[in-house]
Amino acid sequence: MIHPKPRPAHTTALTVVLLASVATFCARAAEPSAPMALRNIMAQLGRDMLAVVGGISTEDWTLVARLAPDIARHPEPPLSEKMRILKWLGTDAGRFRGFDGEVHDAAVAMGAAATRGDGQAVITDFAKVQQGCLACHQSFRKPFTEHFYGSR
Ligand code: HEC
Repeated sequence: MIHPKPRPAHTTALTVVLLASVATFCARAAEPSAPMALRNIMAQLGRDMLAVVGGISTEDWTLVARLAPDIARHPEPPLSEKMRILKWLGTDAGRFRGFDGEVHDAAVAMGAAATRGDGQAVITDFAKVQQGCLACHQSFRKPFTEHFYGSR
């Protein structure tokens, strides 16, 4: 068995204090500003999409039909935040809105497919919804968080 040389108590205490302050600093550096309202809207979209996967897996089209409008008509950030985002987007605003439109249209189609119990179409439309999410994230998520939170 290996017996590590015991460290003097004061060194350990100093290490703990140092680590604690580094942790505090990192937490601040990673998240300097309050979360955007969009983040909560997105988190809800993520939960709704997971619930849709559950509905598809159990062929519960009623559940999918109920969830689809929540995805299509997700809430918007408050006007002040919307203005900040639009200002930051500048000439990219159309592309950003285009992705949101793709998600909207695909979710509406998914809801209609679920209402008529057409599982194949639900799955095809679900993929289109997810492609809209991915496309926007690939173009905008990183620059968005860098701009509004400073890092991440
Ligand atoms: C028009 C652009 C756009 C579309 C479309 C979009 N997102 Fe996002 N999403 C973002 C941006 C920007 C962020 C970063 C927000 C932030 O960190 O404040 C984000 C972040 C997220 C997050 C992380 C939230 C967190 O807690 O950090 C989730 C989950 C998410 N989106 C899910 C989805 C899902 C699911 C869809 C499709 C149904 C979707 N998004 C469609 C722009 C979009």
